[in-house]
Amino acid sequence: MIKHHEILKHEVTVTKEASFWRQLLVSPRFYFAFLFIQVFILATFISTRNFTNYDPMLVIKDQKVQEELFNNTGEHCLAWNTSEPAPETKCAIISPYLIGYRKPVISDEINWEDTLQKYNSVRCGGRFRPSNCKARQKVALLIPFRDRYEHLKIFIHHIHPFLMRQQLEYGIYIIDLDERIQFNRGLLLNVAFLEASKEFDYDCYIFHDVDLLPENDYNLYRCSDLPRHMSVAVDKFNYKLPYVEIFGGVSAMTKEQILFVNGFSNKFSGWGGEDDDMYNRLKFRHMTVLRSMNDVSKYTMLKHKQSPPNPKRFKLISTGMKRVGKDGVKNLKYKVMKRTDYPLYTYVKITL
Ligand code: BGC
Ligand code: MN
Repeated sequence: MIKHHEILKHEVTVTKEASFWRQLLVSPRFYFAFLFIQVFILATFISTRNFTNYDPMLVIKDQKVQEELFNNTGEHCLAWNTSEPAPETKCAIISPYLIGYRKPVISDEINWEDTLQKYNSVRCGGRFRPSNCKARQKVALLIPFRDRYEHLKIFIHHIHPFLMRQQLEYGIYIIDLDERIQFNRGLLLNVAFLEASKEFDYDCYIFHDVDLLPENDYNLYRCSDLPRHMSVAVDKFNYKLPYVEIFGGVSAMTKEQILFVNGFSNKFSGWGGEDDDMYNRLKFRHMTVLRSMNDVSKYTMLKHKQSPPNPKRFKLISTGMKRVGKDGVKNLKYKVMKRTDYPLYTYVKITL
């Protein structure tokens, strides 16, 4: 038999529970907490998605692309002959072939054979000059590289017609580093500059990341009296400059400007800082950086896993100006492991 006081106890517990849920449902704090948790879950989801958008399938695909890009030498291209007569008339200030803004179509289905066929006016080693006028500048496009074959394929496919429309005389240099050595963008750009200038006396050197595709061909790939920072508006940064001193992504300097600051520092191994150090070098030498308007300097960045930043970069940046004279393009020793003129680019692999 249930005793009276036991029934009472049971009723009290039930009422307590019911009032707890009722209170919870009418409490604004509960809704705030609920909303907060939802936002948290959403933010976590977005950040992991961003982090893992490097598809593992891409690695396998990348090997296939590597074979496609690097097995194929010489047979598709005509050698560059410097003694060929070049037109005397200077090209127009603004090329009549420009089309303006066009968002790049990123396809992982590019047929490389078709690309080679389509751009068969490009000479071996990725060199080109307009056939009907004398280009205003000879430009070397310098691309530091490590195992991003799919990106290289998309980049090369995009950049040749872009540069041709600008009526430039140009050469494209892909500089790779012995895989036993940590990636070093500044050092590779110094090497690229030295290797390209051995071949031709270029008027302009453009430091270019392989994952950046220019969206507007009014963004002229030329040099000015002062160094230029060109990747002003990148989609990854919502088409806004992340900070005023940034000099990474795409930038352009003449030989004189490069030598004036002794090129990049060779000490920035891993990701980040080498461009900030270059900005300091330019400032140190009282050179102002030029930038074009945001609407013209737009870029699409190809997706990739973010490399771990070099934790030593801040220390290196803060002590950088003490080393300008002894750490740069004039103080660099390296060995060329491989150099090949592929149909659409010159490939140089080096070791230290
Ligand atoms: C790095 C630079 C990089 C920039 C934008 C900075 O923190 O030091 O090297 O270009 O971020 O990604
Ligand atoms: Mn990148």
